[in-house]
Amino acid sequence: MPAKPRVFVSRRIPQVGLDLIAPICEAEVWPDLLPPPGDTLRNKIRDCVGLISLLTDRIDGPLLDAAPNLKVVSNFAVGFNNIDLVAATKRGIRVGNTPGVLTDATADIAITLMLAATRRLGESTQDAREGRWLTWDPLGWLGQDLANKTVGVVGMGRIGSNFARKLHHGWGMRVLYSDVHPNVIAESELGAKRVDLDTLLRESDFVSVHVDLNPQTKGLFGKDQFAKMKPTAVFINTARGPIVDQIALANALRSRTIFAAGLDVTDPEPLPKDHELLHMPNCIVAPHIASATVHTRNEMARICAENLIAGLTGKPMPACVNPEVEKS
Ligand code: DGY
Repeated sequence: MPAKPRVFVSRRIPQVGLDLIAPICEAEVWPDLLPPPGDTLRNKIRDCVGLISLLTDRIDGPLLDAAPNLKVVSNFAVGFNNIDLVAATKRGIRVGNTPGVLTDATADIAITLMLAATRRLGESTQDAREGRWLTWDPLGWLGQDLANKTVGVVGMGRIGSNFARKLHHGWGMRVLYSDVHPNVIAESELGAKRVDLDTLLRESDFVSVHVDLNPQTKGLFGKDQFAKMKPTAVFINTARGPIVDQIALANALRSRTIFAAGLDVTDPEPLPKDHELLHMPNCIVAPHIASATVHTRNEMARICAENLIAGLTGKPMPACVNPEVEKS
């Protein structure tokens, strides 16, 4: 019987994914909570034809060169900024991701952070826990309203439009968006209006980031962008940390240039324990949990396994981000 193809899974993922690959592959699963160090990853994939990677694994040219038999990298995420796609494509390696299945969960976390930051939930619950809740205070923990406000969506793709739809139908919000591409469905369904980023920043009560991280979006939010926002504005980032200049964000929050922020992503992850953003009363930080629901993570594991198996058996992958390799 021919040996099964060897694959490395760089972290424990939901069993549903491992069960799919077990009959087809000889899989080694990295057992630790923390990612394998770069050298270890290099050694582990040396003889592998497949890799299931996480957004915490840096997959670049030198790493891929250490795995001459590698045919497929299946990333356990929709984002794939951890992978040098040009390097993978050049080496004929197919790369998969997990789009679609985490749209609702990610939009839900953006809304959760928005509500929490707007209604000062982090600060007020901490006060309740730590003995600073002295009485019902007519002037205590005053936040902002949400109904009929304007939300500015930066990146009106799958997640951005799901987020906008929930806010439009739930809170009657007017929707502005900026994107390199128009989203005609959001325009017709939600009356969403495509505007330039400056207009969006000036007119929105809530600004939420849903673009991927690339050279154009790295540092997209800095001092100038926060200065254009309303002093009552709430800023949400569930996309990627490096899209935001965190020093500028901390300054904007400290000086009350903006009202509050809610972040599910930071740079680095995790932030050092003493990082200012973790300790500001008007900033709420979650540990990159947007896709962390049982159903969503199971679905991510399923797609990830299906991508891996399809890649290894020469079939079209359910979600391939470099389809030019498949066609060649
Ligand atoms: C992704 O999939 O890119 C998220 O950031 C993690 O679930």
